[in-house]
Amino acid sequence: MAASSKNKPGVKKTPRVVVVLGSKSDLPVIEGMYPLLDRFGLSYAVEVASAHRQPDKLKRLIKASEKGGTEVFVAAAGMAAHLPGVMASLTGKPVIGVPVAAGPLAGVDALLSIVQMPPGVPVATVAVGSAGAKNAACLAARMIALKDPKVAGAVEDYRKELARGGR
Ligand code: RP5
Repeated sequence: MAASSKNKPGVKKTPRVVVVLGSKSDLPVIEGMYPLLDRFGLSYAVEVASAHRQPDKLKRLIKASEKGGTEVFVAAAGMAAHLPGVMASLTGKPVIGVPVAAGPLAGVDALLSIVQMPPGVPVATVAVGSAGAKNAACLAARMIALKDPKVAGAVEDYRKELARGGR
């Protein structure tokens, strides 16, 4: 993650959006996020930190990201996808969950694991797969746009492009 001299000494500035994957095998699903986050002018990082296999790494990543100023987290995972929910338990920032179609249940398992959060610990769940990943980028931009007019302008430009038949 990029360091910045603007931040407090010893605190690394982190990207506005941090995308966490349960596995390297989830990488192809989120590729469509990159051009969208770029056009919205949002800095981002992609990290692999499995809730099941690497819980300590995940906790460190969330804490460092929060400290460094990250505004929105995205979590993509398949199968028994506990990653977004665990992340939502570790931070008060918004977490957007992307269910990945991995394994014999083709994403239904991940969708239900991600969407069925108990009250008080929300995860904003998007569609299964690459459409969901693109919407995670759009939703992160809309959240950040609430307090950033430049990002709001980029979101509106994109909406106009869609209205003209763009994708
Ligand atoms: C989940 O299990 C990951 O998010 C991935 O979608 C799935 C399979 O992981 P690998 O066995 O490919 O690492 O935790």
